[in-house]
Amino acid sequence: MSNTVQTTKNTAKPFLKWAGGKGQLLEKFQKLYPDELKNNKVNYYYEPFAGGAAVFFDVVKKFRIKQASLYDINEELVLAYQVVKNDVSTLLEFLLGYEQKYLPLDKNDRKAFYYDIRETYNRDRFDINYRKYSDNWIPRAAQVIFLNKTCFNGLFRFNNSGGFNTPAGDYMNPKICDSENLTLVSSLLKKTEIKCGSYDAVLKDVEEKSFVYFDPPYRPISKTSSFTSYSRHDFTDESQRQLAEVFKGLDKKGCFVMLSNSDPRNTNPDDNFFDDLYKGFNIKRIPARRSINSDAKKRGELNEIVVTNY
Ligand SMILES: C[S@@+](CC[C@H](N)C(=O)[O-])C[C@H]1O[C@@H](n2cnc3c(N)ncnc32)[C@H](O)[C@@H]1O
Repeated sequence: MSNTVQTTKNTAKPFLKWAGGKGQLLEKFQKLYPDELKNNKVNYYYEPFAGGAAVFFDVVKKFRIKQASLYDINEELVLAYQVVKNDVSTLLEFLLGYEQKYLPLDKNDRKAFYYDIRETYNRDRFDINYRKYSDNWIPRAAQVIFLNKTCFNGLFRFNNSGGFNTPAGDYMNPKICDSENLTLVSSLLKKTEIKCGSYDAVLKDVEEKSFVYFDPPYRPISKTSSFTSYSRHDFTDESQRQLAEVFKGLDKKGCFVMLSNSDPRNTNPDDNFFDDLYKGFNIKRIPARRSINSDAKKRGELNEIVVTNY
């Protein structure tokens, strides 16, 4: 086994579509990675708000990292990562089963099939012990992936009581069972630690020569468009302030730290929330296309703010 996360020619990419996914920003982000990473002088990579983990896949593909760690507070997401890591072949059997049943159906029957799975998925959540890996995690992860691939806009949204409530999507040919990618992801995850819990654990976990990338839930663009429902865990301005303290703690420990968020100046040129919070660090603004806003008028070019301590 090699002593890096990367295996030969690994082209693994995110296997879940996730709100706030950074896929389209990678090219711009690469220019903002620390030089030490580019020179393969960073040993450890941490992504404490993993979601679809687009930056993780990019970093471990390009650079020699000894070990990577992903954290997320969403237990369904972490469950799916753990199953892809530990039981990919059984997972693929379940997914193939879904694919073979779903794809031949007409529009209405697909809808009915989707709502059936969604109902089972929501009901079964009370029988899952999210703290302890077990065989019943495997069909659960298959449901997560099936719903993610077939739901409206790939938007994985939960209501306040933890029920998944996204309506059915109408993709012509969704790739429910992507064996090739899931197998590649599984081999990458073998050398990746995956934790369910709050991002601040990173402060005590970090090793020397680490790069930490924070992609917290967006600060809502305006008071009315509060897109924060990745899970039941709201991320308020106070949470952003606490995160800034963790950022500063990591800086003191000598880590390379990068953080991104939506730029509040997109809608209010006088809103210096992040400029004030991260005063003294490097702050860049890069144009980003957002597709998560349900209001089509607000879908245009918006800036993303990127803070680095290097
Ligand atoms: C903007 S998304 C990350 C998107 C990701 N970078 C991608 O490319 O798909 C933010 C993630 O933070 C997670 N999250 C929210 N609060 C958290 C917390 N306190 N600790 C850890 N993760 C949290 C959410 O579940 C969500 O997956």
